[in-house]
This record gives sequence, C-alpha cells and structure tokens, in this order.
Amino acid sequence: MRTYLVTGGAGFIGSNYIHYMLKKYGSEIRIINLDALTYAGNLENLKEAEGRDNYTFIKGDICDKDTVSGIFAENDIDRVVHFAAESHVDRSIRDPEVFVRTNVLGTAVMLNCAKKAWELPDGGFKEGKRFLHVSTDEVYGSLEEKGGYFYETTPYDPHSPYSASKAGSDMLVKAYMDTYKFPANITNCSNNYGPYQFPEKLIPLIINNALQGKKLPVYGDGRNVRDWLYVEDHAKAIDMVQEKGRLFETYNVGGHNEKQNIEIVNIIIETLQEMLPGTDPRRKLVSKELITYVEDRKGHDRRYAIAPDKIREEIGWEPETMFRDGIRKTIQWFFEHEDWMQRVTSGDYQKYYEEMYSAG
Ligand code: NAD
Ligand code: TYD
Repeated sequence: MRTYLVTGGAGFIGSNYIHYMLKKYGSEIRIINLDALTYAGNLENLKEAEGRDNYTFIKGDICDKDTVSGIFAENDIDRVVHFAAESHVDRSIRDPEVFVRTNVLGTAVMLNCAKKAWELPDGGFKEGKRFLHVSTDEVYGSLEEKGGYFYETTPYDPHSPYSASKAGSDMLVKAYMDTYKFPANITNCSNNYGPYQFPEKLIPLIINNALQGKKLPVYGDGRNVRDWLYVEDHAKAIDMVQEKGRLFETYNVGGHNEKQNIEIVNIIIETLQEMLPGTDPRRKLVSKELITYVEDRKGHDRRYAIAPDKIREEIGWEPETMFRDGIRKTIQWFFEHEDWMQRVTSGDYQKYYEEMYSAG
C-alpha cells in the first residue's frame, strides 16, 4: 500500500485532489494530510474522507521541522504531494512576508525532511519515492495579449510577491534535483476553478456576490486573460505525473481555455440566470448592472496561457472538462453548499473583503 503525504490538503486544490485519489484508488492507498488550517484551510472540505481508515489529518505547519520530520519518522512515506502555500496574489501584495515564510521556507523544510528520510548511505535514494511540488504558471511572468504561450523552457520572470515566492520554491526543488538527484517533479498549472474554492479568487467571488446582488469588482479594464482549468483535471494531471512522468522533469498543466476576466464575469451572470428558477428570489438580484470596474491590481499580469504539449505527448494527459460544463458544475456545487459559503465568508474574511474593496 502506497502512503501519500499531502500538504495543504484542506485547501481548494488539495481537498479536490484527496477526493479524486480516494475515489480512484480506494483503500489501495493511504493519505496523510498535513495542513496548518490557515484562513484558507477548511476541514469541512474533507468531511467525506474523515472516518476512513486510510485517511489521517494532522494539524501542523510545514515550516515546523519537528512536525514534518516526525511524520516521516513514524510513517514510510512513498509520495509527497506538496500543495501547502499562501496562494492569493492580492494578499501577497498587502503582506509579502508570510508568502516567503510558507512558500519558500516551508518548501525547504519539506524537501529536507523528505531527503533525510529517503536517502541511502551511498547518497542515492530509496526505490520508488517521489516528491511532487505543485506550482503555478505565474512564475513565468506575463504574456502579451497575442504573444505566445508558456512552455517548460520559458525563463522565470515572476512579478507579484506570490509568484516570486513560488518561483523561489521551484528553484529550491530544482536545486535538490540538481545537487542530490532528489526524486522530484514540478508541475506549473494555470488558474483552477471548481468546488471548495475560497471566495477571494475571481470565480467564487463573482458567484457569491452575484447571488447576493453585491457589486462585481472587475480590476482595471477587465481584459486580463487567464487560462482556466477545472480542478479535477488538475488532480488527475498530478497523479499522472507522479505515476508516469520522468523524474526531475517539469510539466506545465493548462486548460487551453483562455478568457478575459470580463468574459468570465459575463458567463457567470448568464449561467446563473439560466440555472436559477424564476421562483428563486436570487434570480432578480443577478444582473450585469452589478459589474463595477475598480482600481487595477498593482503589477497586474496581463495574460497567462499554458502550452500543455509536453504533458500530453509524454504522459497522455489532456484537459477533459469544457469550460461551459465546468462552470455549471461549479455553480451547481455552490448552490448546494450555501452553508459552506456562509461559514467561510464570516469573520476574518469579512474584514479582508472590506479592506480590499472599500474603494471600489
Ligand atoms: P489554498 O489557499 O486554497 O490552500 C492552501 C492550503 O495550504 C490551505 O489548506 C492552508 O491551510 C494550507 N497552508 C497554508 N500555509 C500552511 C503552512 N504553513 N503549513 C501547512 N499548511 C499550510 O490554495 P490552492 O488554491 O488550493 O493552491 C494549492 C497549491 O496549488 C498552491 O501551492 C498554489 O500555489 C498552487 N496553484 C494554485 C492554483 C490556483 O488556481 N488556485 C493554480 C496553480 C497552482
Ligand atoms: P485571481 O482569481 O485572484 O487569480 P490570479 O491572480 O492568481 O490569476 O484573479 C484572476 C483574475 O481576475 C486576475 O486577472 C485578477 C482578476 N480579479 C478581478 O478582476 N476582480 C476580483 O475581485 C478578483 C479577486 C480578481
């Protein structure tokens, strides 16, 4: 039985990945989820996994060497899937330091503890061990409006404190691979959307605001482009890279689904209008009149777009969920989880939201 150590499994992508893996492999695998439960981590996301013999949650910080090395000492970990990070660009602009701590230092601790647990006296590593570092396409910087794609060979050029800290963490993984032949891979993925996404990010924020008749804040001219991938497709890519990818390689993961932010906002409004029955009181609240252009994000990257040729050719992964289906599934999930949304948007999130959008 393979044992996985998943970091950040209570967050958006991590929880979707855990659900995907438990569904795919059932009791053939064991998952240990290490998560500090920051504002972005929510154990409610994993209700269905709790109670299974092959799933364990550990509350802990990836920067804490003793916690992480203790997990490796007590368990024969075969796979590390490292999601834990501070993940929101706007927060990184307001408070960069925690991004450096978690994303850079936390990754260093994870790498070092895995290396110590897995290395052999001759300097090699135990057979079959693999570390996957989950990263972002934002490390490549910004593309021109009609200016090509990000490839694995594109030079790093991060702009935000978030992407700079992720670039730093990627470089550490590369250093471990180059220096020690540490058995790892990096995946750089485009923007994800789907169930359990925290409503500070564009898609869940727009869904949540529209359903309450609140303003829909669009930064700048609304024409920045992101390449959206349904989160379950990302979970599948991660599993495929760990099982079929060549060690030490980087794979870009993308949805072939570029859209301007304003297009996304319009699609969400139209889809909500289609999906809400006329009798639902929220139907009257959802309107394009809610769209409000607000001050642009500082250093706002214009366009991201992934060329996922390598992962398709070497591994056979392709995005499967068309955006029109993925957005309906996502909206349906939010319809069915109003209580989830209410709980995650109370308290600290309210304060963040008021400070962030008070000028808009
Ligand atoms: P998220 O913010 O939803 O979740 C992050 C999780 O990490 C939370 O559960 C949080 O509690 C946990 N965490 C934070 N600091 C921690 C610490 N010090 N110790 C232990 N746990 C800690 O993030 P997400 O959107 O699920 O992103 C997961 C990963 O995927 C990140 O590494 C991110 O950079 C990367 N990524 C995200 C996207 C995206 O569109 N969301 C795209 C590409 C790559
Ligand atoms: P976001 O979901 O924060 O992801 P990222 O910055 O990592 O790509 O933002 C996606 C895009 O949407 C980005 O161009 C910024 C824009 N945006 C808005 O226009 N309004 C908003 O309220 C938010 C959160 C984002």
